[in-house]
Amino acid sequence: MTLKTLILAAGQGTRMRSARPKVLHEIANRSLLQHVYDTSKLLDGNEIIVIYGHGGELVKQSLSNLDAQWVEQKEQLGTGHAVLQADNLINNDDTVLILYGDVPLLTKHSIEQLLGNVTKQSLALLTVNLDDPTGYGRIVRDNEGKVTKITEHKDATEQERLIKEVNTGILAVKGEKLKSWIARIGNSNAQQEFYLTDVIEMAVNEGITIKTSQPEHPDEVLGVNNRKQLSHLERVYQLAQADKLMEVGVTVVDPARIDCRGTFASLGQDISVDINVIFEGKNSIGNNVSIGANTIINNSVIADDVQILANCIIDNAVVGTGSKVGPFARLRPLAELAEHVHIGNFVEIKKSTVAKGSKINHLSYIGDATIGSGVNIGAGTITCNYDGVNKFRTVIEDGAFIGSDTQLIAPVTVGKNATIGAGSTITKDTPDEQLSLSRAKQISIQGWQRPVKKEQ
Ligand code: UD1
Ligand code: CA
Repeated sequence: MTLKTLILAAGQGTRMRSARPKVLHEIANRSLLQHVYDTSKLLDGNEIIVIYGHGGELVKQSLSNLDAQWVEQKEQLGTGHAVLQADNLINNDDTVLILYGDVPLLTKHSIEQLLGNVTKQSLALLTVNLDDPTGYGRIVRDNEGKVTKITEHKDATEQERLIKEVNTGILAVKGEKLKSWIARIGNSNAQQEFYLTDVIEMAVNEGITIKTSQPEHPDEVLGVNNRKQLSHLERVYQLAQADKLMEVGVTVVDPARIDCRGTFASLGQDISVDINVIFEGKNSIGNNVSIGANTIINNSVIADDVQILANCIIDNAVVGTGSKVGPFARLRPLAELAEHVHIGNFVEIKKSTVAKGSKINHLSYIGDATIGSGVNIGAGTITCNYDGVNKFRTVIEDGAFIGSDTQLIAPVTVGKNATIGAGSTITKDTPDEQLSLSRAKQISIQGWQRPVKKEQ
């Protein structure tokens, strides 16, 4: 027996008012379709089939990494018609699971519970009770509580519209049955669409039982039809991420003001995260790390005992044990700080290594540089690494002291324990241990008169 998952993703999503196909809109930097795909990938022995249509090539291109079969539905004539497009990929003994590309937060747990209800004699249907069921297909039950059919909102009688139990659209059934039913679905209804929901009545007529189950949380089955619902599900997702962080021992100052748009390779103990912090890509964070407000950390490694102060951007960088970064610091790709490094405000570091205990505390640009240990770099220091065409490296050896407002014209090396006088423009390598400076001599002019305003 094989499990085949059909993800219906051909709908246009008019209400998004977007040039982008609906299923490519994102929650936490992942498209809606990718969310559904990622969850179905967690199921054992699953073959995934995506039914695409509107904006088709764009959808296929954007998600070309998916291990799935793509089936085009040229015209969107309804959910039943969508499933019919995959008919020749479904075998009689398959179990077929139907998911929606615009329902991103359904969990593996809820799907497994649903799949547990599929047998040769039963169809599994995921339903949910909503206070406001407007727009949804209603689950109609007989006196004994057995499901008899689904009636779409637009086709429902006033009595049926009072029903609060609705169809999520998600169901699972044996291939043989599904194939025989979808061949017979008609479109004589209010929307003149081929409704997949018609299979429920067909099943009941053949003596097949409809077994319903419900998601742990109703938000799991919410679909995205407009931007408001998209932002609602983003918050639902983010609150769940914050919960997970707190469960593993992270202090989250305000769970409503944190965004995890990626994953964690590792998370230590006693991490504290202030408000408005965004995690992107794959991060690894050690023990006893505190992260200040308004900081973005992307694809980076933060070692133990690191303090990141407010308003920093750390992008594809490494921060070594006991280091202190910020406030207002920017670590760009390939910035690598060793242990106990201090990076202060308005400092930008790119493609540079900074060895143990070095300090760059104020207003500096360090790019394409190798900085030794115990180096002190004064305020306003700039590595001039670019001549407009090529990039060159600056090397600053252990123990060097760079005076404030120094420009280091790369390629250049500052020797071990060298001192550079403030305000210097360094164009040549400087020797170890010595003071080097390039500064015009200061003069004072005696008897100098300030200019005065001419009388008109
Ligand atoms: C559908 C159900 C309704 C249920 C609701 C839950 C039917 C007839 N109705 O209604 O009972 O309460 O979902 O949200 O099934 N799609 C295609 N091709 C099409 C039409 C739709 O791929 O021709 C896809 C859409 O991209 C979407 C999904 O199927 O992912 C649902 O389609 P939608 O038009 O939103 O169905 P509803 O009218 O909301
Ligand atoms: Ca819908």
